[in-house]
Amino acid sequence: MATRKIVSMPGDGIGKVVLPESIRVLEAVGFDAEYIHADIGWDFWVQQGNPLPQRTIDLLTEHRLGLFGAITSKPKKEAAEELSPELQGKGFVYYSPIVGLRQIFNLDIIVRPCRSFPGNPLNFIRKSADGGWEEPMVDAVVFRQGTEGLYVGLEWTNPPDHVREALATHPKFKPFAHVPSPEMAISMRLFTLKATRRIVKAAFEYAEKFGYKSVTVCEKPNVLRETSGMMEDVAREVQKEHPSIQLWSTNIDAQMMWLTKNPEDYGVLVSGNMFGDIVSDGYAGLVGGLGFACSANIGDKVAVFEPTHGSAPKYEDLDPPIVNPIAMILSGAMLLDHVGEREKADRIRDAVAAVVQEGKVRTYDMLKLTGGPGVVEKGAATTFQVTDAILEKLG
Ligand code: NAI
Ligand code: MG
Repeated sequence: MATRKIVSMPGDGIGKVVLPESIRVLEAVGFDAEYIHADIGWDFWVQQGNPLPQRTIDLLTEHRLGLFGAITSKPKKEAAEELSPELQGKGFVYYSPIVGLRQIFNLDIIVRPCRSFPGNPLNFIRKSADGGWEEPMVDAVVFRQGTEGLYVGLEWTNPPDHVREALATHPKFKPFAHVPSPEMAISMRLFTLKATRRIVKAAFEYAEKFGYKSVTVCEKPNVLRETSGMMEDVAREVQKEHPSIQLWSTNIDAQMMWLTKNPEDYGVLVSGNMFGDIVSDGYAGLVGGLGFACSANIGDKVAVFEPTHGSAPKYEDLDPPIVNPIAMILSGAMLLDHVGEREKADRIRDAVAAVVQEGKVRTYDMLKLTGGPGVVEKGAATTFQVTDAILEKLG
């Protein structure tokens, strides 16, 4: 097979630090690929009025696989002020390029695995009945719908009359019929059958492929009867094609409680956009937080792999860099899973696990230090040293 081409989008801040580290690991594991740099992020907003240039979209359209570091986003007003003077007042509007990528390529399946590595000092622990403590091993994979739900942007403050008229056809609007429009804000939650099927199917197929016993629909169907209800109905249908996988259903609020009670009981979870966002952050916090949280954004043609963290601007200029590269490295392993190179992906995860378990080389977050230039003196490893240790374990 011809060498794969991977579009490499480091972006801003620590994205530029961690993305090359994941490439070092992918190369060391023998993945046959070539990496093509693509521009994305704040600098391209400031200089060109577009944080997601067309040439980057073209590269992804052609090569279909992307590694993404992180970008810096700033509020509307600040974004407008930082735009280079010759572009100001010409109608350029800032939007988040990662949201842009999800929309342009319909990256509707967001996968966020949350697994504890034994020996990680950031792992969640709880009190046991005998007064001691126990450290449950979490192995949850959240499937979050990425393009619909509450995040579609169907929103109004001061809704126009025709919107109010449409809403007034629903009996539940009655108590609000007399509220003046300027005193009203509306955000809509929209699910489609097609996208709901895609995310639920993806969850079941993953559970089957990676040997999980259950898929949990984590929504709120007792209240959100139509949208959460649709996801539950679809899940019941899809489960019939996967008789060995149990279908469970939990409410998002209850799930956030059970998260710290018995997180080890759950395997694959599937949710709409917002609840998936919430429950995946909840699980990530149990297994090491931002330094460990990897993710994939998968569409039917294009897939982009990225750590969940942002650009952490306060650490971007530290030399040597101190941030944890593991989230990005694990995102690279997810790319390998996606292209059918599971053995290589497992080797990377095993090497990360060995480094974490051994505990000799740890970035500041794993030592529970406050980040900053002094952490290396206090015994924290640099970003590069963590990658080096992982490479060593790969052999
Ligand atoms: P952030 O994720 O960049 O950083 C929050 C804090 O988490 C950091 O200050 C640091 O203490 C810690 N952290 C993050 N990554 C780490 C790593 N690899 N190793 C060790 N510690 C790590 O979130 P924040 O500060 O809210 O946002 C900074 C910028 O990033 C903003 O402009 C925001 O819009 C953007 N952002 C971008 C995302 C993306 O590219 N997908 C996601 C989240 C935020
Ligand atoms: Mg990211």
